[in-house]
Amino acid sequence: MRSSSILFKYFRTKFHYRFTSSYAVHELQADQYGVPGEVLKLNHTTTIDANQLKSNDVLIKLLASPINPADINMIEGKYALLPSSLPATFGNEGVFQVIDHRASDEQVRPGDWVLPKKLEWGKWRSYGIVSINDLIKIPSDIDVESAATLSVNPCTAYRLLKDFVTLETGDTVIQNGGNSSVGQVVIQLGKLWNINVVNIVRNREQGMNELVEYLKSIGAEHIYVEEDLRKETLRKTLWSTIPRPKLGLNCVGGRATSDLLRVLDKSATLVTYGGMSKQPVTVPTAEFIFNDLICRGFWMSRWKSENYKGSEFSIMLHELIDFIRRDQLKPPQCQKFLLNDYKTAIEQAQQPMNTKKILLTAE
Ligand SMILES: NC(=O)c1ccc[n+]([C@@H]2O[C@H](COP(=O)([O-])OP(=O)(O)OC[C@H]3O[C@@H](n4cnc5c(N)ncnc54)[C@H](OP(=O)(O)O)[C@@H]3O)[C@@H](O)[C@H]2O)c1
Repeated sequence: MRSSSILFKYFRTKFHYRFTSSYAVHELQADQYGVPGEVLKLNHTTTIDANQLKSNDVLIKLLASPINPADINMIEGKYALLPSSLPATFGNEGVFQVIDHRASDEQVRPGDWVLPKKLEWGKWRSYGIVSINDLIKIPSDIDVESAATLSVNPCTAYRLLKDFVTLETGDTVIQNGGNSSVGQVVIQLGKLWNINVVNIVRNREQGMNELVEYLKSIGAEHIYVEEDLRKETLRKTLWSTIPRPKLGLNCVGGRATSDLLRVLDKSATLVTYGGMSKQPVTVPTAEFIFNDLICRGFWMSRWKSENYKGSEFSIMLHELIDFIRRDQLKPPQCQKFLLNDYKTAIEQAQQPMNTKKILLTAE
């Protein structure tokens, strides 16, 4: 054991009372489902005294937690997974820092970064006490934006590329929402794994050039707008330089998805993982029959609940962390807001064509 660690342990046990402080817990809660900007309230729920900690308890402080589309859907009461009762604290993912603990020093130390595992434990809170068994320790030498957004979107992109079709070097994947946070990881993993990724984004009057430049900067080579799916380039021409897509990834729905299905290869798979347009997925009949298409759905929460205990989750997380450390996987561009500024943060997160992921921080 390092001498600094022995010293710290001695300090903590002998002089603990001197260093205890109280921590005011503020939680972003709603006592009814509805419009997020109206139903969310920042409540001072309790004050934690570190002396309260019991065996295996870890006192953690929020570093950053994103506002993802699923969080908005949950607050609206329109999601497959909802809190067991209200009022509830929201926020599906986030990175926290260990302040104090009653676990062994081999498991966790003050200053460590951790991801709370339990889905029902809302992350939009300044401090909390979590059992060591419900925390995943991650390295603290990666940027906070990557850590805060690690457990949902990068994992989703990873599973989408690994679990549905066996992709080989030079194969093609096409995705809509190419600029979404998930889409950005698909672009970067595709580059690392030598897969062609064709990205469809929504056209916009302002900021299109900046968007294209940004996507290119993270490795995108093929960027088109939704309307291009109906033009010669994507109906025919592009497929003389790269193979037709074996896999389509859909987070939009409606026409954007029907058009995307028409350019897939024979026996290709479309995986729907989001429905940003709130329109149903309509499969064009001719392509469905004559191209023998396969349509599947994916939900990361279900995958996690089935795989948390196995080694596959940890293998995936470590592979993603290695990519981040090597600067091969960048987080989405982020904008940080204090929990106190939650109203502006929530409003900003729901703006269409907002290019930045909104993160909530405790300070
Ligand atoms: N199934 C799962 O396990 C799982 C896991 C993670 C995420 N998701 C889903 O994946 C989707 C993306 O999540 P994210 O965190 O990556 O989102 P994000 O970073 O907030 O990006 C949202 C994306 O949706 C697009 N979009 C928004 N409204 C749209 C509309 N009306 N029509 C077409 N496109 C629209 C945006 O395009 P603009 O820039 O043009 O607005 C952007 O590309 C969400 O539906 C989310 O719920 C699912």
